[in-house]
Amino acid sequence: MKQLAPSILSADFSRLGDSVAQIEKGGAHLIHVDVMDGHFVPNISFGAAVMKSLVGKTSMPFDVHLMIENPDTYLEDFVTPQTEYISVHAEASKHLHRTIQHIKAQGVKAGVTLNPSTPLSVLDYVYEDLDLVMLMSVNPGFGGQKFIPQTIRKAKDLVKIREERGLDFKIEIDGGVNLKNIKELSEAGVEIFVAGSAVFGAEDVVQRTEEFVKLLADE
Ligand code: DX5
Ligand code: ZN
Repeated sequence: MKQLAPSILSADFSRLGDSVAQIEKGGAHLIHVDVMDGHFVPNISFGAAVMKSLVGKTSMPFDVHLMIENPDTYLEDFVTPQTEYISVHAEASKHLHRTIQHIKAQGVKAGVTLNPSTPLSVLDYVYEDLDLVMLMSVNPGFGGQKFIPQTIRKAKDLVKIREERGLDFKIEIDGGVNLKNIKELSEAGVEIFVAGSAVFGAEDVVQRTEEFVKLLADE
């Protein structure tokens, strides 16, 4: 099943609970949680306390995207009964294999995220351990940026590798996803779609979420 993971980075933080209720009403599958530390990326968003305030307020699982240095130091903070995935950046983890095992030891699915310029080959010897590979289709740090088209080729290459090796990790795409490009991405083999500004920038967030969900249901 194809899944929509709206990013609360683009939500109105003063009424986060309402925003989450809107995407849930629209049928979103996951909540994408963008954590930025001002070091790995040139922006600071929010930390575990904000995410934890949503536990029990929604039944959607959390898809945690850590854009932080030294992710191992903070992993446990993001483990909640609703945390389905924790993804770290390959560029931010000095011992990626160890970090992946660390996530899995928490009973959470492990993801690795790659920046647009990072080649897939950095995952060559860890694919077997992964539940998720997240491809950045913008340079991380901000919502509302333009989709980088080379990511489509990267996604197709990743699908091929997954097939060749008989693996079953999920493929997620993050950045600049909108109602226009989501179909092509889905056809390329992507299964989980992050959308921030395209969801929360809409006048009617419930309706926009429904539009996305309907497009994915047809896929
Ligand atoms: C970028 C974040 C993305 C971003 C998505 O650093 O990881 O999740 O918020 O926002 P849009 O969909 O607006 O590109
Ligand atoms: Zn993200």
